[in-house]
Amino acid sequence: MSFPTDRPATWFVTGTSRGLGLELVKQLLGRGDNVAATTRSTQRLLAALEDAADTTRLLPLAVDLRDETAVAQAVRQTTERFGGLDVVVNNAGYGFLAAVEETSGRDVRDMLDVQVVGVWNVLRATLPLLREQRSGHVVNVSSVLGLTSVPGWALYCAGKFALEGLSEALAAEVAGFGVEVTIVEPGYFRTDFLTTDSLALPDGTTDAYPAIREMTENHLKLQGSQLGDPVRGARLMIDRVVAGGGPLRQVLGSDSHAYATAKVQALQANLDAAAQTAAASDFPA
Ligand SMILES: NC(=O)c1ccc[n+]([C@@H]2O[C@H](COP(=O)([O-])OP(=O)(O)OC[C@H]3O[C@@H](n4cnc5c(N)ncnc54)[C@H](OP(=O)(O)O)[C@@H]3O)[C@@H](O)[C@H]2O)c1
Repeated sequence: MSFPTDRPATWFVTGTSRGLGLELVKQLLGRGDNVAATTRSTQRLLAALEDAADTTRLLPLAVDLRDETAVAQAVRQTTERFGGLDVVVNNAGYGFLAAVEETSGRDVRDMLDVQVVGVWNVLRATLPLLREQRSGHVVNVSSVLGLTSVPGWALYCAGKFALEGLSEALAAEVAGFGVEVTIVEPGYFRTDFLTTDSLALPDGTTDAYPAIREMTENHLKLQGSQLGDPVRGARLMIDRVVAGGGPLRQVLGSDSHAYATAKVQALQANLDAAAQTAAASDFPA
C-alpha cells in the first residue's frame, strides 16, 4: 500500500473509548487524519477526548461488533462521511482469566464473538473496498498471547491464536491487491486491560487451581506497573502503517519479544525432536 500523503488518510478503528484504541484516535486526530472510531459508548469516547483532541475529523460510531449489519452500516457511514477508507484497525478485545474447565460455553462464545466473529464482520465489510481500490492496510491487534499460551489464559489465547491464523492467511490473500496486513503483538501495556472494567472472570471456580487464583490476584495488582507505554505503542503502530512494507508481525514490548522468542525456541526443539518420527505416518514411497 502507498499510504496517502496528499490528503488526510481515513482510519476505521474498533474499541476506542479506552487504552490503545483511545490513544490511536488521539494521535490520528493530532496528525490531521480522519477517524471513524467504534465503541460501545460514544459518550465515554467523547468524554475521554474532551480537551485532548480536535474532534472535527472524528466520526464516533456506537457499534456492537458482533452485529454484522451494524458493522456494515458503520463502514458505510465512514465512506459517506470521509469519501473512502485507507486503514482498518481491529483493536477491540478483553482478557479473561480462568482454568479451562471453569470456562463456560457462554464465556467461550462471548470471547470469540468479539475477537473472531467481530473482526470477521469488519473484514467482510471493508475488504471489498480496499481490494477494489488496490490499496489499504489492515492492522489486527493480537497479543504475545496470540503466539504463546499460559495457564489461566486459555480462552483469551484461543481468541488471539484464531486472530493470528486468520491474519496470516489474509495477508497472503490480499497482498496481490496492494493491501497490507500487520499483526500487532503487545506485551503488558499500561491500559485498562488488567482492571476489572476490562478483565472478565468466570461465574464459578473450583479449589483445584490455586495457582490460577494467585496469578489472577497478581495480574490485578500489576495495574499501573506494566512495561508498555500506550502512547509509544500507538505511535509505533501508526508509524508502521505510514511507512508500509514492514514484516507481518509488529512485536511491541521487550517482554513480548522475550516470550515470543522462548516460544519459537520451544517450538523448534519440539520440531527437532519430531523430525525422525514425523515421516512414519507417510505412505511408503
Ligand atoms: N494492555 C495489554 O496488556 C495488552 C496486551 C496484549 C494485547 N492487548 C490487546 O490490545 C487491544 C486493546 O486493549 P487495551 O490494552 O487498550 O485494553 P483496554 O484499555 O481495556 O481497552 C480495550 C478496548 O476494547 C474494547 N472492548 C473491550 N471489551 C469489549 C467487548 N466485550 N466488546 C467490544 N469491545 C470491547 C473497548 O472498547 P469500548 O469500551 O470503547 O467499546 C476498549 O476500548 C485488545 O485487543 C487487547 O487484547 C492488550
